[in-house]
Parts: sequence; structure tokens; C-alpha cells
Amino acid sequence: MLVRLIYASRAKTPATHELIESILSSARQRNPQQGITGVLCYSDTIFVQVLEGGRDQVNRLYASLLRDERHYDVILLAYESIDERQYSSWTMGKIRLDKINRSLLLKYSECGELNPYQVSCCSTVALLNELASTAAFAQRD
Ligand SMILES: Cc1cc2nc3c(=O)[nH]c(=O)nc-3n(C[C@H](O)[C@H](O)[C@H](O)COP(=O)(O)O)c2cc1C
Repeated sequence: MLVRLIYASRAKTPATHELIESILSSARQRNPQQGITGVLCYSDTIFVQVLEGGRDQVNRLYASLLRDERHYDVILLAYESIDERQYSSWTMGKIRLDKINRSLLLKYSECGELNPYQVSCCSTVALLNELASTAAFAQRD
């Protein structure tokens, strides 16, 4: 059974290039074994991650993520059973939130900034869906 889980969190230290690369390199090593796909969106201070895969595998990864001290204030934005993946080509894509087209951000926010702690879960999920359909900003493996 496939599920999609979306959460947001705050980076404990500024999300430098080194931090993102170290997270992504372990994700890209581990996710294929677990059949996990998805995308990690990040700014200097915030992560939003989409995880897709089998229910047990996604649940286990989320449990590990909750214990990971590199971030905090983890909030669950969406958890649903799905018929198909949106990110089947990405072991873990990446999107820099500050590279997203401003008009797309304005569509879902008050001031053109993605802050999942301020906008509704629906807005964040809708924005991610739109990004997935254009996929213009994600890094494909
Ligand atoms: C923002 C963020 C995203 C992460 N994404 C993944 C991921 O997609 N896959 C993964 O295996 N670990 C990911 N990790 C690392 C996990 O939190 C955890 O360190 C790793 O799965 C090892 O967990 P374990 O020590 O419980 O086995 C991420 C960590 C952070 C902070």
C-alpha cells in the first residue's frame, strides 16, 4: 500500500549547502533500498519534505526524522493513501524555496513566501502539487 507523507520542520542551524548535501547523500543511499521517493524543499531555516512509498517504510522513516536533531518543530501537513507516486523519478529531489517563481508563491501565500507554519496545510500541499507537475526546479537523479 502506497502512502504520501508531507511534513515541515525548522532547521536547527542554517541550512548550508553542506548540511543539505549530507542529508541528501544519506537519503539517496538509503531511499532506494526502502522504495522511498520524494522531494526535499528548503530555505535557510525551513524544510518541507514529501515522502512517498510503502506505508511501513514511510512510517519508519518519519519516526527516524522525528528523532533527528538537525531539525525541530516537525509538523505533519498531510498523510494519505495514494494510487500512484508523484516523484517516482526522484530518490530525493531538491527544491530551494527561494528559487520558486514568486507568482507561484503569491498564489498560495500572503506575501510571496512559503511559510508552512503560517499558511494552511492545503496551500502548502497545493503548491507542492503544482511544483511536482512542472518539476522545473527539482534535481532529477
Ligand atoms: C530534513 C531531513 C530530511 C531527511 N530525509 C531523509 C530521507 O529522505 N531518507 C533518509 O533515509 N534519511 C533522511 N534524513 C535522515 C534521517 O532523519 C535519519 O538520520 C536517517 O534515516 C538515519 O536514521 P536512523 O539512525 O534512525 O537509522 C533526513 C534528515 C533531515 C533532517
